[in-house]
Amino acid sequence: MPGYVINGRKTLTGRVKISGAKNSALKIMAAAILADGLVTLRNVPDIEDVNTMVEVLRTLNVRLDFDKNNNILEIDPSMINSYEAPYELVRKMRASVLVAGPLLTKFGKVKVAIPGGCNIGARQIDIHLKGFEELGAKNYIEHGYINCSADIKKIKTSGKANLKGAIINLDFPSRGATENLMMAAVMAEGHTVINNAACEKEIVDLANFLSTLGAEIEGGGTDSIKITGVSKLGSGSTDYTIMPDSIEAGTFIAAAALCGKKVEVQDAVWNNIEIFCQKIKEIGIDISPAGGRTVVVSRPKKVLKPVNISTLPYPGFPTDLQPVIAVLLSVVPGLSIITENVFENRFMYVEELNRMGANIKIDGHHAVINGVKMLSGAPVKAFDLRAGAAMVLAGLVAEGTTEVYDIQHIQRGYENFHSKLRVLGADISVV
Ligand code: EPZ
Repeated sequence: MPGYVINGRKTLTGRVKISGAKNSALKIMAAAILADGLVTLRNVPDIEDVNTMVEVLRTLNVRLDFDKNNNILEIDPSMINSYEAPYELVRKMRASVLVAGPLLTKFGKVKVAIPGGCNIGARQIDIHLKGFEELGAKNYIEHGYINCSADIKKIKTSGKANLKGAIINLDFPSRGATENLMMAAVMAEGHTVINNAACEKEIVDLANFLSTLGAEIEGGGTDSIKITGVSKLGSGSTDYTIMPDSIEAGTFIAAAALCGKKVEVQDAVWNNIEIFCQKIKEIGIDISPAGGRTVVVSRPKKVLKPVNISTLPYPGFPTDLQPVIAVLLSVVPGLSIITENVFENRFMYVEELNRMGANIKIDGHHAVINGVKMLSGAPVKAFDLRAGAAMVLAGLVAEGTTEVYDIQHIQRGYENFHSKLRVLGADISVV
């Protein structure tokens, strides 16, 4: 498996451009199934998870052409001929389960492998399934697959059945459930309201894409999304540009906070990660927006201050940036406490960070961080995508050499990660 070798303590400076958002692109690719005509997506990041979603769609006989140099993905869903998402791909990437909503809409039925949990938690989809049932579908589990269909009798007689609009109250503002149910409701008969919906900016991006296809949808980005079913979507061709990746932006902002001298993070939209930027400012880092889509960051000479963090669904502190801000707090003098409220097991990286000299104790959902003067390089592992990025940041600020293993996790979600860091002055290479 590939790894990174990092020689730490280099100053980062200059400009880095953030790529398209992984957690928007994957859903909009799935939503393209709903279109009758060609869909052109721009600013699609060239990352492993996008390649996996391309594979998933190809197994459904969707035709795709990914121009990786220009980040343009052409999707032709007109020949789609299957409603089954295969086990090996859903196992590889749980976001594959997001083809369920569009396939249920397209065919009136879907067969999707039960997505496994992952390192950070059980990652259930009960909220998705409950919502599908409220839209009139029937779910049953067989041989590791979830079978879900609208009125099976109607399908037998007329070959197709539509879902019926409903008022759905989510038990938890699950992003995946909100997205899957939006895609299941856009062609359902009548009106649907999704209450206690997730409000992340990636939900707004999906709602905007669905509207571009002709869906009648309002309230995307609020906790109550209203949808009126339509009979056709995406006739003619559709052209859509994916939003920039807020989590990649936060990752580079944290890297600059650790070792930066005037780093310009381009396509970092301050108000998409407002609370994260506020916390970075509270710690004492020089950070400010420059125009609508750039954030400038420098590590000042002065002593930094500890802060407490509680992760929550948007607009709360994003759980995906919890590991990276923990690295920054691990070298800030004083006591900082991080509380992880979204996932049950998102502190796996702490053990690796402590092997680099950090002083962090886990107490249930809390990480109690006593800042140390300096981390020291060591061989460490990437346990998942964001934990892996955190280990790279730790290597950048540590004294000596750090080897990060299992970087395939990182390559799932960061486009040209080490090349972008090298351009800023980091001493990092792939082995
Ligand atoms: C999305 O996952 C992101 N992934 C995750 O990013 C992110 O951490 C997460 O949202 C939270 O912000 C993608 O968008 C591909 P949820 P998702 O449904 O949709 C529980 C990354 O690093 N839950 O909001 O799966 C679930 O177990 C990844 O890019 C249920 O119990 O998140 C979790 O504890 C990691 N039942 C919590 O809700 C359900 O039916 C949040 O899940 C659904 C979710």
